Amino acid sequence: MDDSQEHNLGALVTQWYKKNGRQNLPWRKSVTPYKVWISEMMLQQTQVVTAQSYYRKFLKKYPSLSSMKMATEDDILSLWSGLGYYRRASFIYQAKEKIFLDFNGRFPATYDELITLPGIGRSTAGAILSIAYQKPFPILDANVKRVIARLFLKKDFKEGLFWNLSAQCLDEDDPYSYQQGIMDIGATLCTPKAPLCPECPLNKNCLAFKKNDFRLPSTKKPIKKDVYLEFSLYKDGPRYFLAQTEALGFWKKLWMPPVKIVNKFNATNKHALSHRHIHFRFKQITNLPTDMKGKWFSKKDLANIALPKPISDKLLQDG
Ligand code: ADE
Repeated sequence: MDDSQEHNLGALVTQWYKKNGRQNLPWRKSVTPYKVWISEMMLQQTQVVTAQSYYRKFLKKYPSLSSMKMATEDDILSLWSGLGYYRRASFIYQAKEKIFLDFNGRFPATYDELITLPGIGRSTAGAILSIAYQKPFPILDANVKRVIARLFLKKDFKEGLFWNLSAQCLDEDDPYSYQQGIMDIGATLCTPKAPLCPECPLNKNCLAFKKNDFRLPSTKKPIKKDVYLEFSLYKDGPRYFLAQTEALGFWKKLWMPPVKIVNKFNATNKHALSHRHIHFRFKQITNLPTDMKGKWFSKKDLANIALPKPISDKLLQDG
């Protein structure tokens, strides 16, 4: 640590959070281990603005771990419809099963137990321990990485070092407020471009601010492959014919019109996944082949099944 840096960074963050933090976020108004878990799973790959309505909907259907006991994977997936990174919904299902099987239905409260649950890595375990149980464990999500890179002016991302620095900053006296605060500082002040340093409680301790150098470690963006899809839209009055397929390698367990991978064409419809650019079109079909696998769904049913975002947009917009 640089000589000019104090060792009470954590307390500064806590103090700031109590006065300036986003305390109205739905997962901060009522805190239980179960609710923290669901919110952290959503927030792994989804922005706060988008996650809020999904979180409310999820909590309305499953307000507690015990209310989720009998839920199927499809039940949970349907609440994820349109949110993306659907593996997270499957992880919630698998983790729930494990909690009832191995932990007697009691949500785990130690790092060693949490880390055994599907979908929970070191950072999510740290978030749950800090936020739900007031136990000081570090996290290292994209926001915290950026704050740390700036605070300590580290322009190469080295995983072990960043975890150590994250652990050094914690506030042992109030892990909850510290952790929410450091995420809020990352999201609202220490933004990738044009950070709001004058408002930051850490500015006196920040080497990037001191040296006026806000460059960040480069993040490797995955190269995305283009995929061209043609959906066959079978409609019978108000009902749609939909199927599930493993053939695409993504959107497994989601419902969609029968689909084919086709040759490149000039598509107006596009959708980005983490590792793919999807180009797609719809073909209206009147006669359904008798051997086609799938099921008919009424428009009302569509709310209770998981659809990829481009499909729910299409079907819900159609009359
Ligand atoms: N990102 C991950 N966890 C979060 C939380 N609890 N609040 C806001 N953003 C987050």
